[in-house]
Amino acid sequence: MSLLLNRSVFGNTANAGNVLSKEDAYQLLNDWVKNERLQLHMRQVAYLMKCWAAEKEGLNEADQWRWEMAGLLHDADWDQWPGLHCKKIIEELEARNIDAEIIRAIVSHGPNHFGVEPETKMDKMLYAFDELSGLTHAYSLMRPEGYSGMELKGIKKRFKEKGFAANVNREEIMDAMNRIDVELETIMQFIIERQGEAEL
Ligand SMILES: [Fe+2]
Repeated sequence: MSLLLNRSVFGNTANAGNVLSKEDAYQLLNDWVKNERLQLHMRQVAYLMKCWAAEKEGLNEADQWRWEMAGLLHDADWDQWPGLHCKKIIEELEARNIDAEIIRAIVSHGPNHFGVEPETKMDKMLYAFDELSGLTHAYSLMRPEGYSGMELKGIKKRFKEKGFAANVNREEIMDAMNRIDVELETIMQFIIERQGEAEL
């Protein structure tokens, strides 16, 4: 089943700055994603994107929400329309005249699947966080303390164990790392510190 989009232009640059309200974005998430695990994953990635935009990129609140929104909706169509993954959500956001950069970040979160390369820092960070967030969450579930007291060396060990959370694609994580000027350990540490908060 190919998810290649065979498109290179997404959204309309005239829509720059157009976002969904938080209420509408969460409504879309709740309407489209019934799988609680997937919803949690999307909320976690959204939170990581928002925190990274604020803390590491020094972006203002409007831009933080653009990053957060991309994270929040990146897998919105996976639950109900896996064969239309990415296509469905970007068409929805295009129909709602959403900022082209948000749509593009969503479209490029799996270059090997959708055939669109991450270009902006927002694109690249979403790609980088996606799988690594899943690995870290899987690790938290096997720890009685969850995220509390989690150490970098623990997550690095799990990353090397191919059998642990085997569905987490390590090659995609390394591919994402090769595209950004940030160390893998820095992102791991950031996820350890921030991801647990997303569940609060
Ligand atoms: Fe994802």
